[in-house]
Amino acid sequence: MTNEELIEAALQVREKAYCKYSRFKVGAALIDDQGQLHIGCNVENASFSQVSCAEAGAISAMVAAGGKTIERIAVAGGHESIEACTPCGGCRQRINEFKSDDTRIIVVDDDQEWHVYTMDDLLPHSFHLDDV
Ligand code: THU
Repeated sequence: MTNEELIEAALQVREKAYCKYSRFKVGAALIDDQGQLHIGCNVENASFSQVSCAEAGAISAMVAAGGKTIERIAVAGGHESIEACTPCGGCRQRINEFKSDDTRIIVVDDDQEWHVYTMDDLLPHSFHLDDV
């Protein structure tokens, strides 16, 4: 799957966002280590702190399907048209949990251009725990 196709998947699932409180629609689409596609959108709640980010949904789908690492993840967000939407701090940590050496994060900006980041670009000096 090309980066353009991955972005298209993120844009499509973005249309499903449940975001009646912020009106900020986010879609995420990722390719895992098996080459499988997983998608997610943000899901808000009347109790605001219960929001689930698009990236979290896509990662949950990956884990449930047996995927182990994120090879590429595309994120697209905005109110009506697309705005720059780099993953929030919490989602950077979520992506970091499932990174490989080659993980890339693709973010679509307000010019419909896309930028590719490494995990180290977005979350340097990240927190991790050694396996026990
Ligand atoms: N949001 C995401 O889905 N992912 C991010 O990385 C940033 C924020 C959502 C959460 C909330 O529903 C809306 O965008 C506004 O914060």
